[in-house]
Amino acid sequence: MGLKTTYTAKTFDLSGLNGISDETLAMHFKLYEGYVTNTNTYNQRIADMIGGGELDATKVAAFSEIKRRFGFEYNGMVLHELYFGNMMKDGTGDPTGGAFKAAAEESFGSYEIWKADFVNTGKMRGVGWAATYQDPSNGQISNHWINLHETGNVAGYTPILIMDVWEHAFIKDYAPADRPKYIEAFFSNIDWDAVSGRLSKAGSAGA
Ligand SMILES: [Fe+2]
Repeated sequence: MGLKTTYTAKTFDLSGLNGISDETLAMHFKLYEGYVTNTNTYNQRIADMIGGGELDATKVAAFSEIKRRFGFEYNGMVLHELYFGNMMKDGTGDPTGGAFKAAAEESFGSYEIWKADFVNTGKMRGVGWAATYQDPSNGQISNHWINLHETGNVAGYTPILIMDVWEHAFIKDYAPADRPKYIEAFFSNIDWDAVSGRLSKAGSAGA
C-alpha cells in the first residue's frame, strides 16, 4: 500500500557561511536527508502495520517502537529545515530593527536579554536544540530547550528561530568544549528577515 504523504528533502543554498564550513554543511545536509528518508520509511511501515484496520496484537510492541522512532525522525526533519531556513550567506549579525527585534523587546524587555537567554539555552549540556517559539494566542515569544528532537517542543506554538547544538553541527569546525564559538558564528549567519517572517501578527508582538 502506498502512502499519500511522502517527504522530499529540501535544498538550502548556504555555501560560504561565516564560521560554519561548507564541509560541515555538506555533512549536515546528508544527516538531514537521512531524517527525511527515515520519516518516509517509518511512515510506510506504520501504514503497512495498520493495514487499514485493527492492529494485530502481536505487532503492538513493534508498532509502539516504530511510532516512537517516527517522532524522533519527523521532528529531526522539521527542525533541520527550520534551522537551515533561518541562516543565510552574508549575514549581518544582530538585527538593528525589524519585527523580531520588536517582539524580543516586548517579550523580554530588550533584545539583549532575549539573546542572553537564547544563547545560554544553547550552551546547556546535553544533545538538542535552542528554540524561540511564539505563542499564537498573544504574540509573545519564549525560549526553550529541545532534548534530542522531540522533547520540549511546545504544542501549538510557532517555531521562530531554531539553532542546532548537536555536536555534528560544529564538530568539524570547533572542539566540543567550544560550542559557544559555534553559537557566535551561528548568530552572524541568521537570516533575520526569514525569522521575522515566521512571526504572526497575533497580539501586539510582531505587529
Ligand atoms: Fe543537526
